[in-house]
Amino acid sequence: MKHHPARLIAKKRDAGELSGDEIADLIGGVVDGSLGDAQLGALLMAVCCNGMTAAETTALTLAMRDSGRVLRHDHVHKPKIDKHSTGGVGDKVSLLLAPMVAAAGLAVPMISGRGLGHTGGTIDKLAAIPGYRTDLSIERFQRVLDQCGYAMAAPSAEIAPADRRMYATRDISGTVESIPLITSSILAKKLAEGIDGLVMDVKVGRAAFMVQEHDATTLMESLCAVGRAAGIRMAALLTDMDHPLGQALGNAVEVREVLDALEGRGPADLLEVTLRLGAEMLLLGGLAASVDAGQAVLERLLADGVVRHVFRHNLELQGGDPRLCDDAGLLPRAPVVVPVPAARAGYVDDVDPLALGQVVVDLGGGRRQPTDAVDPAVGIVLATALGDAVASGQPLAFVHARTAAAAAAAAAQVAAAMPVGDERRRRGPLVRRRAD
Ligand code: URA
Repeated sequence: MKHHPARLIAKKRDAGELSGDEIADLIGGVVDGSLGDAQLGALLMAVCCNGMTAAETTALTLAMRDSGRVLRHDHVHKPKIDKHSTGGVGDKVSLLLAPMVAAAGLAVPMISGRGLGHTGGTIDKLAAIPGYRTDLSIERFQRVLDQCGYAMAAPSAEIAPADRRMYATRDISGTVESIPLITSSILAKKLAEGIDGLVMDVKVGRAAFMVQEHDATTLMESLCAVGRAAGIRMAALLTDMDHPLGQALGNAVEVREVLDALEGRGPADLLEVTLRLGAEMLLLGGLAASVDAGQAVLERLLADGVVRHVFRHNLELQGGDPRLCDDAGLLPRAPVVVPVPAARAGYVDDVDPLALGQVVVDLGGGRRQPTDAVDPAVGIVLATALGDAVASGQPLAFVHARTAAAAAAAAAQVAAAMPVGDERRRRGPLVRRRAD
């Protein structure tokens, strides 16, 4: 490193402002190992405690982006717009959204993550599709993007490698919840995709990274400001994560829900959030004049079966079994499916996404350790929603499990996460706020 690492760390410890050159030097040290683990941990803690200015966060984001390959898709003559979610329970939006906006004329070069804690990840959901490949070479990724309008891949070691080491260190050093670190981690990877614009779905609520609306708004504003400073168009929505999105929680069961949505039978909340984010993407790409006009285009493409056609084409190009579109029975199925009966009559008083997300992890549908294998077949399918009237014994949900013992344990946890009461509660708005 050009600078003495300890001096730069001490500068941030004392709440000084690091220059772009100093930040680039630190990130160089992250990648080539000349910044040691203890030094990286100390630097991250100093950033976590003292924050960063917008200029520092932008410099950090660009240095992390440039730590690896930055894609260009000059052969694709369409607006290249992506969406990114900060993560939720039941959030299968990307699987439906990408073919939807691709059908409308955008190109979506989507590099997605795996599940994190109780939140699911697009890559794990796609892994439930027999044969589907997300470990694409960059050349194949670009060919798929060109041929069907969207491509979905897991992050390769070539994309923003600095983030891998930084994220792993944050995870074990109590420095995950830092707005500049979250902003740079998300945007470095997205900017490396070679996009013209990004729509951020910042989740807020009990099962989100940001539980409070104030913190989620700060993150949303940071993402928009840094993305714009880095040269792309940005839009962002704060969306509800006080309750799960849709009815299916788990990998194969969520893909099944997406197949239903492609046939026009999707849950209303999933459709509402997906259409709204899609309309924002069309607006950013210059393919719609207003959110309403964008939503109308997407609704028509869905109803006409065009979105389903694009989804099927992508399956073919990425090695998935295209017969899945006609036969959801090809998805992995759990051997044990048990109902979770309501203990009494009344109204569903809560659908706790944090608890339910944890049940999916306990069933094997998510990871406790980064190296854990994920069971694609297990999960929960909700049969009721917040405020629904239920009779005693009526199924609140169904647990899909590998064994009868796992199903029984999960059913008890689901019952606790979905209490029945006397008052009829209503869910708040799904889209809570839009970035200005
Ligand atoms: N997702 C990321 O990629 N990074 C973060 O820091 C948080 C969410």
